[in-house]
Amino acid sequence: MAGKLEGKVAFITGAARGQGRAHAVRLAREGADIIAIDVAGPLPLVVYESPTEEDLRETARLVKAENRRIVAERCDVRDLATMRSIVDDGVRQLGRLDIVVANAGICILAPWDETTPENFQTTIDTNVVGVWNTVMVSAPHLITAGGGSIILTSSYAGKKMQPFAVGYTASKHAVTGLARAFAAELGRHRIRVNSVHPGTVKTGMATADMQNAMARAIETNPSLGNMGTPFLPAWAMEAEDIAGAVAFLASDDARFITSEHLSIDAGMQYF
Ligand SMILES: NC(=O)c1ccc[n+]([C@@H]2O[C@H](COP(=O)([O-])OP(=O)(O)OC[C@H]3O[C@@H](n4cnc5c(N)ncnc54)[C@H](O)[C@@H]3O)[C@@H](O)[C@H]2O)c1
Repeated sequence: MAGKLEGKVAFITGAARGQGRAHAVRLAREGADIIAIDVAGPLPLVVYESPTEEDLRETARLVKAENRRIVAERCDVRDLATMRSIVDDGVRQLGRLDIVVANAGICILAPWDETTPENFQTTIDTNVVGVWNTVMVSAPHLITAGGGSIILTSSYAGKKMQPFAVGYTASKHAVTGLARAFAAELGRHRIRVNSVHPGTVKTGMATADMQNAMARAIETNPSLGNMGTPFLPAWAMEAEDIAGAVAFLASDDARFITSEHLSIDAGMQYF
């Protein structure tokens, strides 16, 4: 049976592991060829482990196992010029671009008065400027293709908030704003722009190191400790759960959904 994205090409950032890898594999399974980038090396200031080049190669292997083509390159989303040249080259190789998933991001936890200027700036540069860069280098190709779907990865923190993460919360609210603002202007080109808002997802970001950082932060203000409890009996989602939502938004099943902010969070934003 033909997949929902047969003949399409998708560009995915942060694809070395976690949600980005799940998006690459799921969109490939639905029939899309993939352009994938990731810094695939040391991430600044985070307490969790960074991905490696081998992680990005593994994503490429998994996409090829779905019988799809992939162009996978190391690139920092903060580097607009390099990203543009990789995407332009990927489109030359794969023929077109229809879907964009701006997924790369970092999360640094710290109480407000331990948040450094470097921590705040790096978070905004990666999670906001990086997403803006991603749309700016790819939207012209979607216009050429006659339309498409752009999905920006925000967070539970971009609809409610994440305590002990002022920079992360601000960045993910900005992503929600980027989705709406781009949706308004790109709509006349038949380009839909939506944001997804995961709760906690079991990836390299949500590790024991992060849980320890959160536990230490909660000690500074214990009343915030229960915020974001899911209603459903699961503390976290799998990356594939978010990929299912991304595949839906990328497909024609969502052809009149734009400027929307879709939560996959087991209800935690309402707790
Ligand atoms: N894991 C969670 O609980 C959770 C919850 C809500 C939202 N998110 C968001 O989901 C997205 C994916 O995160 P994940 O959970 O898969 O974590 P992850 O750390 O496993 O994956 C993020 C990927 O982005 C890449 N990346 C980070 N900075 C980059 C840069 N400057 N340039 C290029 N690549 C870069 C990393 O190398 C990594 O491979 C992020 O935007 C994150 O903020 C995560």
